[in-house]
Parts: sequence; structure tokens; C-alpha cells
Amino acid sequence: MSDYQAMQAELTGAIAAATDLDALEALRVAALGKAGSVTGLLKTLGSLTPEERQTVGPQIHALREGVTAALAERKAALEGAALEVKLAGERLDMTLPAAAAPRGSVHPVSQVMDELAEIFADMGFAVATGPEIEDDWHNFTALNIPETHPARAMHDTFYFPESSESAAQRMLLRTHTSPVQIRTMMSEGPPIRIIAPGRVYRSDSDATHTPMFHQVEGLVIDRGIHMGHLKWTLETFLKAYFETDDIVLRLRPSYFPFTEPSAEVDVGYKHEKGRRIVGGHGDDAGHSWMELLGSGMVNRRVIANCGLDPDVWQGFAFGVGVDRLAMLKYGMDDLRAFFDGDLRWLAHYGFGALSVPTLSGGISA
Ligand code: PHE
Repeated sequence: MSDYQAMQAELTGAIAAATDLDALEALRVAALGKAGSVTGLLKTLGSLTPEERQTVGPQIHALREGVTAALAERKAALEGAALEVKLAGERLDMTLPAAAAPRGSVHPVSQVMDELAEIFADMGFAVATGPEIEDDWHNFTALNIPETHPARAMHDTFYFPESSESAAQRMLLRTHTSPVQIRTMMSEGPPIRIIAPGRVYRSDSDATHTPMFHQVEGLVIDRGIHMGHLKWTLETFLKAYFETDDIVLRLRPSYFPFTEPSAEVDVGYKHEKGRRIVGGHGDDAGHSWMELLGSGMVNRRVIANCGLDPDVWQGFAFGVGVDRLAMLKYGMDDLRAFFDGDLRWLAHYGFGALSVPTLSGGISA
């Protein structure tokens, strides 16, 4: 055995016997560090004659490679063992029952928003969002509601104090989710199929109005879209949401600056034990119509305001009150209770954290 082989055997023996990473690192430095034994041999190569180098060189390089490989192998083994110890120490039996029953519940508004996302995802809609602190342009002007328009007064807007910015940049709390239409058309471009659920704000408060409430906006932009698509979408959505095929809609001509034509959508319902039950034709005996949502074909001017060509792209939009949808389906009668944070109300109307709505499992499961 050459000196080099003997040296390699000695070093690899010590490496294999190293019991922790610190000891291994000390061995590495002693062999391969700047002043290490193997490094020292490599340095001698420069002073050898070419002939000597030809015989000794490969042996020293083999020594270095052998030691390097032994170090790497031992390092991997020690790290693996350390990981095993760590994992064993952190072991958790996931099959054990939770120590305490989960507390709290999912608010009906969150539950309904999850239901809507599930229903519309099945129809190919993505969920879009926008800021609750909006500027005047996105909330009004781009939606064809110019400064002098009476619709602005209807919205009871919470404005931020005027600043040096231009009127279009004046900030406000969004009064509806419709500015998300603008943001999506400008940032995504067509074709678009989105719903945009979220908080909106109006200075208004009684049993059916709170200064903050929730809406979900729907927007479809594509080629050749017409009112038939709108009606089918709303019907399909409401049947899935109320979990009944007995849904009759009435589209009533209406006016919104951002849609043309516009339609208010009513749904037939009847009173049963003091509760409003959605279903049936509103003109049938014992039934009435209830106004449910605003909708229409997106106004050409709105499409143009977003930089799209209204001769190419058409679409429909709708906006629904989410809180109202929740009240109708789950039987609450005072909207203000939604936001009181009363634990008894939440325990009664809330949903289990694990009862995620799915179309296959029943949407309100
Ligand atoms: N933004 C309207 C509102 O808040 C609702 C709406 C949305 C109407 C989209 C038509 C189209 O009252």
C-alpha cells in the first residue's frame, strides 16, 4: 500500500467514526482546509519535475477525491440521522381527536360569499376584487355617472376630505362593487367572466340598511353577448343558490347609468309562517314579486371608458346584495343584527368552520 493509500485509509476511517457534524468539520479542515494535510501534498506538486508529477499527481488527486467523497457521505448520513431525531421529537398523531371542540362559527355573509363563488366557479366565473377605498373616477365617472349626475346623490357617498388632487382622484368609500367592473376590464381585458363580492358603504341606517353592507357584482364581456345570456345566468345562479328549480324571474325595465338597457330583476315568493319563501310565479295566488337585483347590458360608454371597442365587445353586469340573499335563504329579518357581533346570534345563524359549501355536497351543507 502506498503512503497515499495508507493516509486515505486513516482519514476515511476517522471520517467514518465521526459522531457529529462538528467533529466531521474538524476532520475536513485538518485534511482539506488551507493548512490541511491533503492540501499540503497538493501544494508540493508545483515543485516536482514533470515526470514525478505524472506518477505522484494522480495519486494525490485520488487521495483528495476519496477523502472528499468520504466526507460527503458521512455528512449526509449524520444529517439524515439528525433529521430523523428531530422528526421523531416533533411527531404528532394527526388521527387523535382535537382536545377541545372548535369554537366560533362562519358568519352567514362569509358562508353566502363562499356559496356564490362555488356556484359561479361552476359556470366558469373567476372571483375578482377591488379596493374598498376607491377614487371618484372608478366609482362614478368611468361608470357613466358624471359629476352632476343625480345618481351620485342617490348613493349617499362617504367622501374623504377634499385634497389638492383633481375631482376625479377624490377618494371615497366605494358605494357599490361596480368599480371592480372597470378595474377588471382595464387590467384583464376581454373575454371576462367574473364575480366580485365585497363590502360597500352608504350613509344609510335602518332595519334593512346598514352603512356597510355586502354586494356581489357579476360581469361578462365577450363577443355577441345579449340579454338572454344574462337571464340564463341569473336563473341558473338563483336555482343553485336557493336549491330549487321553482324560480321565476321577472325582468322589469329600469335605469342604471352604467347599463343600457337596464333591468331590475324580481323573483316570485310567498309568505309562510311569517317567513319569505322564494319560489313560484309572483302573480299566482298567495305570491308576490320581490325586487332582488339590478342588471343590464354594459353601457357602450363604459366599455369605451375602459379602452375597449364597444362594436367588438359586449357584455352584461348585475349587482346583488349579499346580506339580502343571506336573509332570504336563512330567515333572518333584521339586517343590523348581522353586524352586532352578538355571540348568541352567531351561534344560531353561523356555520361550522368545516362545512364548506360544494355543489356536489349541497351548496349550504
Ligand atoms: N351597482 C348597482 C347598485 O349598487 C347594481 C348594478 C350592478 C346594476 C350592475 C346594474 C349592473 O345599485
